[in-house]
Formats: sequence, structure tokens, C-alpha cells
Amino acid sequence: MNESMSDLIQLNRLDSGVVELVINRPEALNALNIAVLLGLKTALEKLASDQTVRVIVLRGAGEKAFAAGADIREMQTMGRSDAAQFSRLGHSVCLLLESMPKVTVAAVQGFALGGGTELALACDFILASEKAQFGLPEVGLGVIPGFGGTIRLARAVGLTRAKELVFSGERFGSAEAAQLGLIRKVLPQDGFFDEVRKQAAKIARNSLPAVWAAKGLMNEFEESSGVYPKVDAEIHRFSSLFGTPDQKEGMGAFSEKRAAKFVGL
Ligand code: CAA
Repeated sequence: MNESMSDLIQLNRLDSGVVELVINRPEALNALNIAVLLGLKTALEKLASDQTVRVIVLRGAGEKAFAAGADIREMQTMGRSDAAQFSRLGHSVCLLLESMPKVTVAAVQGFALGGGTELALACDFILASEKAQFGLPEVGLGVIPGFGGTIRLARAVGLTRAKELVFSGERFGSAEAAQLGLIRKVLPQDGFFDEVRKQAAKIARNSLPAVWAAKGLMNEFEESSGVYPKVDAEIHRFSSLFGTPDQKEGMGAFSEKRAAKFVGL
């Protein structure tokens, strides 16, 4: 059964206790604007208490992107306080994905950049097709990842590799993502979502209280020493870069489809 939570968020309920949550903004490569994030938050809050749902598969509409990041055009004119609110909203979606009593799976084909990689990293695990592209390119826009990316990428691949990826902003494909340990294996593009549904349904057949007990236990570490204590610090550092010459130049250059020329401090 398909439900529209809003024009931007769709819900496909499969028989198996699996729900596909679809970011539906393909004309902007599913870029995460405030409306998309609010739609995701509302949908996840509803699904958290829905006893018929066991596994949530997060995906993007269209073939080109999971999500090409936070909406740069929307962020371009934000001041510090708006940017802090925006970052807090993105964090709240990611923390829901990470902590809710359901298994959350990111199904990535095409671009998962910036906030897209960050949403994927917040899911319990990532399934990716051979056409997936990951990356945290924010420093090329004069800012830093603002939805927990630096923290969760370092957790997933180790601090040194995460630093190289964040400081370079380089994109990497699914073969490299597998080498880095971000995904377990690369799935073929043909029939990708059929395979995702199969794997999600397999998990949904297991005992939900047992899976939830395992997830709760594995997340306890995060509450004490992982992502949670660093959220406010990231929001502060992310938002403090808004209004600077480099943020204006980086995001302006994207909108004008040209290379950025940074001026520094
Ligand atoms: N925000 C807003 N619009 C975006 C977008 C984004 N992140 N990504 C793509 N789009 C829009 C493009 O502007 C374009 O719109 P128009 O047709 O109106 O010009 C449309 O989507 C299609 O994109 P392209 O024409 O650019 O497609 P392409 O195939 O040539 O390139 C791409 C694809 C390499 C992904 C390129 O779109 C791109 O570099 N996007 C930005 C990626 C990025 O920097 N993401 C990080 C955002 S910052 C962030 O996420 C901060 C955070 O942590 C909170």
C-alpha cells in the first residue's frame, strides 16, 4: 500500500512488516530541505509506535540519487541561528533513525552526498548498489557536515580515514565503501530494490523483541561515548561558519554552477 505523508515523503507498506520511506524530490536529486526533513521526522515518529512495522528502508525516488545532501540553495542565505536550527532538525531525524525501536536500513543507489551520506550513516546499516556514490563534500561549500557526519563516519571507518575523506571532500563509490567497511558488500544495480526488500523481509521474520534488545544494547555505547555527547558541539561549529565569506562564496558558487574561490579567514 502506498501512502503520501506529503508530496515530498512517500510510504510504501510491504506485506512483510517492511516499510519503504521514500524521499520524493527527484528533480533536485532528493536534496534535503526543511520540508523534507520535517516530513521525515513526522513519518519516523509515527512509524516508531506502529506495531505492524519492523523494518524501515530509507530510499530516494528516481534512479539518480538517495539524497544529494542538504539543500544548498535553501542554506545559502541562512544566518547562524537558522543554520543551527537546521542542523538540529537534521540531527533529530538522524537520532530517530539510529535509536527507534525498528531496524532502519539505508538503500543507496546513485548519489548519497553530504546530508545524504549522513542519513545513511545514521541507519542501522547501509545496502548499496554498484552505482552508489558517497561523500562529505561540505568543506567545498565553506561549511562542515551538520547532521552528525564527522562523528558517524569516524565511527564507521576510523578517525584517520574519516579525516582524509572530510578534509578532501572526495566522493567514493560502493567498492571503496565496502573496502572502508561502510557497507558489507556491493549489490548489483539490476534488481537492487528487490534484493533490498528480500533482505529486509528476512530481518522482519526474526523476533522483534530480540532484535530490539540487541539494537538497544549496541546503541548504549553511543549514548555515553559516541554521537550523543557531540551533537551540540557539531551544531555550534556548523552554524558558526554561516555568514562567513567562504560559506557565502562556496554556496553561491554552487548556485551559479561555477568553481568556488575561497578567501580564507
Ligand atoms: N541542494 C540543492 N539542489 C541540489 C543539490 C543540493 N544539495 N544537489 C543537486 N541539486 C539540484 C541541482 O541544483 C540541479 O537543479 P537545477 O536543475 O535547478 O539546476 C538538480 O538538482 C540536478 O543536479 P545537477 O544538474 O547538479 O546534476 P549533476 O548530475 O550534474 O550533478 C551532483 C550531480 C554531483 C550530485 C551535483 O548536483 C552536486 O554536486 N550536488 C551537491 C552535492 C553536495 O555538495 N552536497 C552536500 C550539501 S551540504 C550538506 O549536506 C550540509 C550538511 O551536512 C547539513
